[in-house]
Amino acid sequence: MTVLHVVGARPNFMKAAPVYRALAKAGFDQVLVHTGQHYDALMSDVFFQTLEIPAPDESLNVGSGSHAQQTAAIMSKFEPVVLARRPDVVLVYGDVNSTVAAALVCAKLGVRVAHVEAGLRSFDREMPEEINRLVTDQLSDLLFTPSPDGDENLKREGVAAEKIFLVGNVMIDTLVQFLPKAEELYVGLKDRLSLDRFGLVTLHRPSNVDDEVVFLPMLQVLDELSRDLPLIFPVHPRTRDRWSQQLKQCNPNLRTIEPLGYLEFLALQKHASVVITDSGGIQEETTYLGTPCLTLRENTERPITITAGTNVLIGRDWKLLREEFAKSLNGYRKQSGSIPLWDGHASDRIAEILSRYGSSASR
Ligand code: UD1
Repeated sequence: MTVLHVVGARPNFMKAAPVYRALAKAGFDQVLVHTGQHYDALMSDVFFQTLEIPAPDESLNVGSGSHAQQTAAIMSKFEPVVLARRPDVVLVYGDVNSTVAAALVCAKLGVRVAHVEAGLRSFDREMPEEINRLVTDQLSDLLFTPSPDGDENLKREGVAAEKIFLVGNVMIDTLVQFLPKAEELYVGLKDRLSLDRFGLVTLHRPSNVDDEVVFLPMLQVLDELSRDLPLIFPVHPRTRDRWSQQLKQCNPNLRTIEPLGYLEFLALQKHASVVITDSGGIQEETTYLGTPCLTLRENTERPITITAGTNVLIGRDWKLLREEFAKSLNGYRKQSGSIPLWDGHASDRIAEILSRYGSSASR
């Protein structure tokens, strides 16, 4: 049975890596397609090296563009690959434009699609990722969910129960595997960045960084908070492109740096006093690590990180941000428990389900 994986953007790589490895162990034939949605060395290549992902079999090199342009470019370049490679199942990951584009191509060609990280919903259709999640899940034949809320969302949207498999969180598989290496590397990183106590910041959502009315007050509060605790801010290209001048004018305790590799960033998440972010994946990683996470969004598609984890939704409530930040500085930790199936073995469960699925499909 041939499985074709589609990856394109930074958050895909840490999800596909453990699934690729588990399927290799189970003896699947595999094809890896990189759409090129992310193309900078720091947004893509370093993750292939660190996470030991083989070089892509096919690179579509689509690059940046509007949503329509990028999605269309992926579709038109991906279709001939599917026709030539004739996979039995195509695995798509997460909620980026590459995910929905590949799912749509396969659905039209009658090729089975399996969605890893299915069922997550922010219920906010202004997020491009929410549109990608809704469409991908409707088109998928197998839906691998990370948490029970995903199953509930899918059933409510009319997805047949027999297509849904609660497997756990594949990104946590990668974290569990690489945390010891990240810890080793932290010793050098601590010296290189002269770190003692620090917080970590990431911001890249269009709803936060595209509009000055939103972004500039946010930056001002971060600048203020960094006077009490140095903040390390690896800046996403989208944010850097738009705000490089304003970022340079911040006080030196708000330390803007280039995007980090997987291990460096994981090490910083583990040792930070607090993380301030608008990322989806970081809400999950901080929950696993027990690090306080203050999310600068009005909603989350990962509610389990709030109910069972260390995440607090801040939105744009700067008073709440200041309060929660102060609590973290004083050593307060929200009670968090371990989440079932976030155990380092989600990919093994996917491999087992695909093996069963392959043998029943070929009967
Ligand atoms: C994409 C995903 C988002 C994910 C994020 C992680 C969608 C709709 N969004 O957002 O869900 O959280 O990736 O990073 O798929 N750029 C570069 N170099 C690169 C990639 C991008 O400079 O390697 C710049 C370009 O100016 C580009 C901009 O970043 O226009 C945005 O990139 P794009 O892939 O469109 O979306 P992201 O904001 O990265």
